[in-house]
Amino acid sequence: MVKTDNFQRPVLSLRISITSRCNINCFYCHHDGVIPKQYEMTPSEIERISRIAKNLGIKKIRLSGGEPLIRGDIIDIVKRISALGFQDVSLTTNGTLLKEYAQKLKEAGLNRVNVSFDTLNPETYRFITQSNYLNQVKEGIKEAVKADLYPVKVNMVIMRDLNHQEIWDMFQFCKETGAILQIIELLKTESCPDTDFFDDYHYDIGIIEGELKEKATDIKTRPFMQDRKKYFLEGSEIEVVRPMDNTEFCKNCTRLRITPDGNLKPCLLRNDNLVDLMEPIRRGDSDEKLEKLFLEAISNREPYYDHC
Ligand code: 5AD
Repeated sequence: MVKTDNFQRPVLSLRISITSRCNINCFYCHHDGVIPKQYEMTPSEIERISRIAKNLGIKKIRLSGGEPLIRGDIIDIVKRISALGFQDVSLTTNGTLLKEYAQKLKEAGLNRVNVSFDTLNPETYRFITQSNYLNQVKEGIKEAVKADLYPVKVNMVIMRDLNHQEIWDMFQFCKETGAILQIIELLKTESCPDTDFFDDYHYDIGIIEGELKEKATDIKTRPFMQDRKKYFLEGSEIEVVRPMDNTEFCKNCTRLRITPDGNLKPCLLRNDNLVDLMEPIRRGDSDEKLEKLFLEAISNREPYYDHC
């Protein structure tokens, strides 16, 4: 019984931000749209919310943050969720701890990972993340491929004159490693710590899409994934994510989110229509009541970019 919102969009996936903490500090980070939170849901709270989501027809779970692997109980969390029998359980990580965790995550039932990784250049990496983990992340990506967390995707946020000239190098690295490159347009949201970076670094990835269209032997659209485009070339593929001002992206969004302190969040780009689940959980409310709150959040969903 998949639920549909007021704009005929089925709600198929739940993105759970399990912490606001992170061990690196990317200057552009939108923290998955969440204004940083102190409270973190317990594994059993996360499990209960996931079970209710499953009852409401949600097929896919993604864990994100902050950095999800920073939580000491991450393996327990993944085990509990994967035992519920979703079609797909995935995680978005900065990759710094992935070498150590890839195999354990696979054994806990995780299907796949996305690794946020913007540059192969040590200086640029230091500038973006204010850290020196470049080689650990590369090792982490390799380990995830080895652990068969398939497909391992590399999320590369494109920034003008910082890494936009590196896309083909990153594509080569991904091809050699057995990962898939996903290029993401830089986004400005109210959850970014400051938004000054946007004008300096925003790069119109339409330019790259033009090049990809010429080089690709095949192009596919992912219908329930915000209509993202996949370009097939050189025996591999590149996926393009362009949410900004993109009505197609919103029209095809099938995602609901949860903040680390247990609020249902209907849209990445808004924080004024959240629905609190934690207070009712602490009060001991029944599953039926929590389901109603999910339905309220689903009815709060509206396309953010909807001007045509
Ligand atoms: N614009 C675009 N993408 C971003 N991400 C984080 N902040 C931004 C931003 N301002 C990406 C990260 C991560 C994914 C969850 O979101 O690279 O992979």
